[in-house]
Amino acid sequence: MADHASPGSIELFPVPGLPEFRPGDDLAAAIAEAAPWLRSGDVLVVTSKVLSKVEGRLVEVPTDPEERDTIRRTWVEAESVRVLARRKRTLITQNRQGIVQAASGVDASNVAGNEIALLPEDPDASAARLRGDLRARFDLDVSVVVTDTMGRAWRVGQTDAAIGSAGLAVLHRYAGQVDSQGNELHVTEVAVADEIAAAADLVKGKLGGVPVAVLRGLSTVDDGSTARELSRPVDDDLFRLGTEEAIAQGRAEAVLLRRSVRSFTDEPVDLAALRRAVGAALTAPAPHHTRPVRFVHVRDEARRGKLLAAMREAWQADLTADGWSAERIERRVRRGDLLYGATELVLPFLVVDGSHDYPDERRARAERTMFTIAGGAAVQGLLVALAAEGLGSCWVSSTIFCAEVVRDALDLPSDWEPLGAVAVGHAVDGPLTPRPPRDLDDGLIER
Ligand SMILES: Cc1cc2nc3c(=O)[nH]c(=O)nc-3n(C[C@H](O)[C@H](O)[C@H](O)COP(=O)(O)O)c2cc1C
Repeated sequence: MADHASPGSIELFPVPGLPEFRPGDDLAAAIAEAAPWLRSGDVLVVTSKVLSKVEGRLVEVPTDPEERDTIRRTWVEAESVRVLARRKRTLITQNRQGIVQAASGVDASNVAGNEIALLPEDPDASAARLRGDLRARFDLDVSVVVTDTMGRAWRVGQTDAAIGSAGLAVLHRYAGQVDSQGNELHVTEVAVADEIAAAADLVKGKLGGVPVAVLRGLSTVDDGSTARELSRPVDDDLFRLGTEEAIAQGRAEAVLLRRSVRSFTDEPVDLAALRRAVGAALTAPAPHHTRPVRFVHVRDEARRGKLLAAMREAWQADLTADGWSAERIERRVRRGDLLYGATELVLPFLVVDGSHDYPDERRARAERTMFTIAGGAAVQGLLVALAAEGLGSCWVSSTIFCAEVVRDALDLPSDWEPLGAVAVGHAVDGPLTPRPPRDLDDGLIER
């Protein structure tokens, strides 16, 4: 496979003397007249603004700068299918052609003071039309690159890039090729059409009214590709959102990411992630500056086995006392084996040593409720923080029903009250995905 570089030198010619274009103008004829030296094999590089003008993609706006800007911004939104990032007045959008750039390419430069220009509807089609016209009417076989000026992620300043093209391979793929030092090139794909666009800008410029240039000397091959292929599909984009938008989306989805996960893979749990989640859970609101919750991470295998066996025995004893048959008990207890399958086990406990004493039953009960709900808040915090770490969990009630047995198995103080158990691990059915919020129905009462 050849290098994308030209074997010799290349030349760039500006095409001066073109008229100020208006809707309906014959662009091919104007170029053929202004560049009678144009020949087959050349690459014709055309600023998209020219195509916007001849294709009537101009919008009349008031001359007042503020009103003009307000209308311009309405068009930026209208021309976009997605807003990727927004900071103050800057908007990075994706348009219908998949092009990601500032302001959807809507521009007020190099147009009359009472107009703004939208990008051509389909810049590849515009390029193909111009190429077809030049061939059919002027017997010129040129390839065409339609350009727009845009910023690049991570780089200061703008360059011209290809937003439309016809008649040339827009990408030169080096995958599998070996360089002169014997290194295999795995990912190098040169965006040739963008390089042409940027090079041509060096003779077109922004102020001199030269919207067209010709590049000569590059041997181009028409592989049927067009500039549209240079837009990275958003799903493949590691930076598909602006930083602030990504953070906002993560925040909005954190609670919705949690669901009860009852089957786990063999993949180990990152204990640092688990500890971070517990740290987050311990920030839960608590009554009068107390710490009403402790989390016990049961790490010792033997202790965990002993704990679960003792809990199972206590449960069986309860069901026996209820008059259940041995077979029915066995079936019920087997269904409750979820904790056995957990990768890690974290047990939350309520510790009410900071609670206030009240002489009457009503306030004593309220104080108790207050601590219990604070415990629940911390456990929910843990589940959400685990989900944010990519870990599945299920909050299981069983320890609440056999508190003494649990304290014994774990050697815990007699006033620590179990708030259930949290099974933690990687969900068998794949990564957690956020669900939509519930309908409010009767869940929100407004008075
Ligand atoms: C205090 C409490 C105890 C729970 N106990 C159990 C349990 O013993 N076994 C179980 O499978 N799920 C248990 N769950 C989980 C609920 O069944 C689960 O939250 C509910 O079905 C809603 O599903 P979701 O968590 O996926 O939204 C418990 C939930 C809470 C809040």
